[in-house]
Amino acid sequence: MEFKEIVETRYATKRFDGQVLSGEKIDQLLEIIRMSASSFGLQPYVIKIVTDDAVKKELMPASFGQEQITTCSHLLVFCANLDVKGRIDEYAKLMGKSGVPQENIMPYIDVMKKFEAGLDEQGKLSWAQRQTYIAVGNAINGAKSLGFDSCPMEGFDPKAYSEILKLPENLIPSVLVTVGYAADEPKPKLRYPKHVLFQA
Ligand SMILES: Cc1cc2nc3c(=O)[nH]c(=O)nc-3n(C[C@H](O)[C@H](O)[C@H](O)COP(=O)(O)O)c2cc1C
Repeated sequence: MEFKEIVETRYATKRFDGQVLSGEKIDQLLEIIRMSASSFGLQPYVIKIVTDDAVKKELMPASFGQEQITTCSHLLVFCANLDVKGRIDEYAKLMGKSGVPQENIMPYIDVMKKFEAGLDEQGKLSWAQRQTYIAVGNAINGAKSLGFDSCPMEGFDPKAYSEILKLPENLIPSVLVTVGYAADEPKPKLRYPKHVLFQA
């Protein structure tokens, strides 16, 4: 499918048919998400994958009862990772393993460390969350490209999610993507005209 057709036909699915995606399909989607662009390449997030029906049921009241949670195949919980320092250290190792010359690693790491030092906790959260949304864009269009459906979701209680999923303090649930096969129909697309969105 051409990218244009993917973005025109993808829609926020409200109800899935309960079918479980094959391991191959979900792996392909995770790979698309993994390839996401991010500031410095740091990908400051962790994506928790929920497939257990009992856990999904427990999450339902914390998701305003939205049916996507219990009918989807996989529930992806995009968590902003506040441990940016940890990510920078991991990145330095990754660069080393990937054969980046040592003299190029330290200057890059220094720039990242200076950037991190300039962020307060709120700034860190906001920055990390902005990165997660780029991955969410890839997830929803990626799902459509692989022949299944999705819904990006902010309608949930992050604190309750943290408790139910027993998340460490550095991971802040920020946005969800439910994926599976739709059991509903898309509504006509409602979008602002070009002159409202784009200005010379
Ligand atoms: C960040 C974000 C959060 C959203 N949260 C929800 C949600 O909690 N529940 C829901 O049913 N749809 C949610 N949506 C879907 C939007 O309502 C939907 O994308 C929009 O109305 C456009 O419709 P379309 O995606 O079907 O073209 C969300 C979309 C985005 C991008």
